[in-house]
Amino acid sequence: MRITLFYFSGTGNTKAVCDAFKIKMERENARVSIINVEKHGQGNDSQVKDLIRNTDVFGFAYPVFGADLPRIYKDFLIGLQGSQFNNREAFVITTVGYINAYGPFLMKKELKKLGLLLKNHIVLRMPNSTKRITQYDNARSECLVKQDSRITRLVGDILYHRKHISGVGPWVLGGYVVRKVLGKQMKEHYKRWYVDTGLCIDCGQCLGNCPVQAIRSNGGEYSFSDTCITCFRCLHFCPVQAIKMK
Ligand SMILES: Cc1cc2nc3c(=O)[nH]c(=O)nc-3n(C[C@H](O)[C@H](O)[C@H](O)COP(=O)(O)O)c2cc1C
Ligand code: SF4
Ligand code: SF4
Repeated sequence: MRITLFYFSGTGNTKAVCDAFKIKMERENARVSIINVEKHGQGNDSQVKDLIRNTDVFGFAYPVFGADLPRIYKDFLIGLQGSQFNNREAFVITTVGYINAYGPFLMKKELKKLGLLLKNHIVLRMPNSTKRITQYDNARSECLVKQDSRITRLVGDILYHRKHISGVGPWVLGGYVVRKVLGKQMKEHYKRWYVDTGLCIDCGQCLGNCPVQAIRSNGGEYSFSDTCITCFRCLHFCPVQAIKMK
């Protein structure tokens, strides 16, 4: 079986899950290509097109941001429109800090628009990326151990074409309100970021790592633009914790 898994990961949780999934799948002799949507923004470059032609099952993995898809992921899905998916099977892996109020239904619709059939959907609880946690990597590893059996189950379900949609519950109804309220706040969030110049060592890591080039530096003065997708990567990975919120 040939699998292509399109993922976005702000702070590494979703990527870690995708890596664990790939290891398990490849033990079962499946071939897994993991594609970081950050590097394929248009969703229609030649590598992606080639993979689409040669894939049996497609995977979509993302963190839930404010009961919604990350903006960069929405844009990637738009870029995939017009691709020839021809009703092949798809699975979705979501990671959350608490609960997935985006649920499986909206993504099912998105996949249907592309010509894909949603067969599997899982929600995995990971550390909450909105908080800077010391030893984030350890917290992530602990969560991965807890989620291991669910990833194993997903692998079996995909291999044997069993349908399993998890993450359905009353919280999905609340998602509409959460999306509206948090969606607005997330759009404006770039105004809250600032760099504490007393701490900053000008290493440039935040500039290079931002998935949407939302950070600029002008003679040691840092500013954030409205392209920010509130992934919280800059906050987590600044080596001296100089990135802060007003
Ligand atoms: C802006 C933002 C909004 C978030 N909204 C939610 C949410 O609605 N529900 C939830 O359970 N977790 C939420 N989280 C937590 C992340 O979904 C979770 O930590 C995820 O595993 C991060 O994955 P990543 O490291 O791949 O980016 C949010 C995180 C961010 C940064
Ligand atoms: S990552 Fe931190 S220390 Fe490095 S340039 Fe950015 S704010 Fe400064
Ligand atoms: S500015 Fe920070 S939070 Fe915003 S997109 Fe870039 S890395 Fe993510």
